[in-house]
Amino acid sequence: MESIVLFGPPGAGKGTQAQRIMESTGLPQVSTGDMLRAAVSAGTPTGVEAKKYMDAGLLVPDDVIIALIKDRIQEADAINGVMFDGFPRTIPQAEALAGITVVSHVIAIEVPDDKIVERICGRFTCADCSAVFHDLFNPTKIDGKCDTCGSGNFKRRADDNADTVMSRLNAYHEQTSPLAEWYQTKGIFHIINGDREIDQITEDILSALK
Ligand code: AP5
Repeated sequence: MESIVLFGPPGAGKGTQAQRIMESTGLPQVSTGDMLRAAVSAGTPTGVEAKKYMDAGLLVPDDVIIALIKDRIQEADAINGVMFDGFPRTIPQAEALAGITVVSHVIAIEVPDDKIVERICGRFTCADCSAVFHDLFNPTKIDGKCDTCGSGNFKRRADDNADTVMSRLNAYHEQTSPLAEWYQTKGIFHIINGDREIDQITEDILSALK
């Protein structure tokens, strides 16, 4: 089993690209952010613990995240590997991952900090199928109707505000970006310029995965 890691700052486009490349790779998207938000909505002990960190834009403790991932990759759809979106974010998480699956590619989507805030503050998602949109950069083709499933139910994330974004960016620079060097030494790290049209980025990611 070989897995892919999508790596990058908040709002880099990891989720957007994951949805587009899932079809080509056949690998399911495993987003720790989505798993945590589901746990928060369900009011599970993990969700209650995670919420205070997420609301503050801080990383959830490694032991909580690693336990979630260990459970998730036992599921039937993960048998041939998965596409991790937003995991790992610390060296201990990467070390734990190395013990449970082979990572064949780390796709690092790079976007300058000054573009991140406008991306995050304009994001909305379909409440029914989780397709990701943006008020200005990636609007729905028909106003008020999801391009993917036709639903008219949209939502915005509680942590998508200018204050929390700054904390999330700090967490990225302090705790997550050191992982780039860690993966570079393994020769599986592919840098993709994420400050371009969404289609061009998808094309480059698919080439890197060949
Ligand atoms: P998580 O949900 O993973 O959030 P994140 O990493 O901050 O990433 P985002 O989901 O915000 O961004 P994205 O890169 O997926 O961008 P998107 O495609 O949506 O984590 C949330 C929280 O959970 C964390 O803060 C932490 O507390 C906790 N957590 C999660 N995982 C953890 C872990 N492993 N360890 C510890 N804690 C963890 O795009 C953003 C917007 O830009 C969209 O509106 C989109 O339409 C638009 N867009 C996309 N591409 C482009 C483009 N090329 N040009 C213009 N606009 C674009």
